[in-house]
Amino acid sequence: SSTNQNNSSSKPTDWKEWLNDLVRYKDTTLIASALAENLETIYEEFNFLNGDIVVASHPKSGTTWIQNIVSLLMNDANPEKVQGQPLYLRVPWLEGKEDPECDCGYKLLETRSSPRLMKTHVYGSLVPPAMLQKAKIVYIVRNPKDVAVSYFHMHRAYQFLPYVPWDEFITELFLPGKLLYGPWHKHAIYWWEMSKSHSNILFLHYEALVKELKANVESIAAFLGKKLTADAIEKIVDESSFTSMKANSDVNYSQVSVMGHEISPFIRKGKVGDWINHFTTAQNQLFEQKFEAWMAQSDLQIDFV
Ligand code: A3P
Repeated sequence: SSTNQNNSSSKPTDWKEWLNDLVRYKDTTLIASALAENLETIYEEFNFLNGDIVVASHPKSGTTWIQNIVSLLMNDANPEKVQGQPLYLRVPWLEGKEDPECDCGYKLLETRSSPRLMKTHVYGSLVPPAMLQKAKIVYIVRNPKDVAVSYFHMHRAYQFLPYVPWDEFITELFLPGKLLYGPWHKHAIYWWEMSKSHSNILFLHYEALVKELKANVESIAAFLGKKLTADAIEKIVDESSFTSMKANSDVNYSQVSVMGHEISPFIRKGKVGDWINHFTTAQNQLFEQKFEAWMAQSDLQIDFV
């Protein structure tokens, strides 16, 4: 892991300028051009293997949480086996990288043998067919009000994302889907629909994990074909609690300086309903209106509290 501060790249100061540099990839999602190029290469050339395990999500939905659970499950629930190995290297980000000093995830993965673990934020309609055929995919969805709040704080902290005042963040960026990998609803709904026709996609809810972590760890274990003892499951539940993960420097990104841990820690609050502390009444009304329209044709159920 890197503790070097990359002083040459400063935080974008003008968010409108930053927005102008994003591309709408294949008429779907809004991403940085480097991510689009990598997704293109992965789609065309990356060699997915039977046994690959993918954690998929819209950003800020509990991706890191699932990465940690999957990594522990695949390492016999033995934290000692992975101690000192940053989670972002155990489960690399397929189309990107967290640490500027590291190779992009798909390049790291090319050198690994099965079973390979990876994460992606790829849009459902852009999933490489070979991934869909060969991998087991765990998708996690989170209520979009808390996603927006978590994303706002990440924009505050992360060196490569601009700070955007909350009022503008919610009305000018999140709701119109003008953030990396947005719009949220299309991301979630497309994956939800795919999960209905693909038994190799496990669709999970952040809110359910908060309520029943153990039951969810058990269903991930069953999905991945891992038979573990009750003690082993207990161990994973323990290691994946908010408190454990917040304190664990292998998983909390505190060693990746560009993440801006001191401004807002990556493992921040871990609550359902923190949106209540951020939304004004008017913003909430606007959000509810939009949400209703987004979900009018979908049976995806989302809990906000
Ligand atoms: P908050 O900012 O609301 O606290 P992602 O990994 O997709 O970027 O999601 C990050 C969010 O997941 C953060 O939300 C983070 O705190 C939360 N999270 C990570 N590990 C968690 C855990 N063990 N329990 C609950 N929430 C967790």
